[in-house]
Amino acid sequence: MVPSNTQRYSYKARWFHWAMAVLIVLAYALILSRSQFAKGTDVRTLVVQTHFWVGIVVLVMAFFRIAERHRHTPPGIRPPLEGALRVAATLSHYALYAFLFVQPLLGLFTVLLERGALPIPLTSLSIPGPFALSKETAQALEHFHVLLGTIFYYVIGLHVVAAIWHHFVRKDNTVRRMV
Ligand code: HEM
Ligand code: HEM
Repeated sequence: MVPSNTQRYSYKARWFHWAMAVLIVLAYALILSRSQFAKGTDVRTLVVQTHFWVGIVVLVMAFFRIAERHRHTPPGIRPPLEGALRVAATLSHYALYAFLFVQPLLGLFTVLLERGALPIPLTSLSIPGPFALSKETAQALEHFHVLLGTIFYYVIGLHVVAAIWHHFVRKDNTVRRMV
């Protein structure tokens, strides 16, 4: 691992962080807005399928992001975090990284086990999956996908509140390192 000799996360790490934050908000917004459109309409199908693909882009980017994180250690927070705060920050970052992989994978397996294939938006084509259909497993995975999605409203919310606290209350360099 190359320790960073600048005061910020690497350019790529910052780019990944903000691009993926936008995509995650988009994934949430799409799936939550589906109830605005009547079932069976083309527009609802498009909204749901776009949710799938935005999530898959997140999954693919997550691999590159982790590789970048291994290449560059971010600069320390000044003044350094101590004790429980440091542990909380580390744990929440591990949880957020895990979410970037687990959440799209749960969604993807749900679709493949329920439908046998991943539909390509705006076409009648789909990418076939390697699994036999299993409605029960698909339902269980979907349940965890929705549950994790709900839990992470709070984890992501807390992450944002922590960033605001660091910047405006603790007045340290946490946020400046990521912009
Ligand atoms: C960043 C990635 C993702 C996030 C944050 C996310 C989030 C969510 C959330 C919050 C829900 C539940 C919405 C509700 O409360 O009704 C949901 C539903 C769902 N998601 Fe995802 N998801 C992601 C990726 C994916 C992927 C990659 C797929 C499939 C390829 C997928 C397939 C589904 C399916 C099938 C449902 C149930 C839809 C329905 O009931 O109509 N998700 N997702
Ligand atoms: C507007 C929303 C967001 C803000 C203001 C924000 C802010 C920040 C800041 C300031 C850091 C640096 C923290 C530190 O080094 O201690 C950070 C790191 C991080 N953020 Fe966010 N973030 C946002 C959204 C998200 C989202 C949606 C995710 C993913 C679900 C995410 C995942 C992460 C991860 C995994 C790190 C750790 C980076 C590392 O040390 O390798 N962030 N964020």
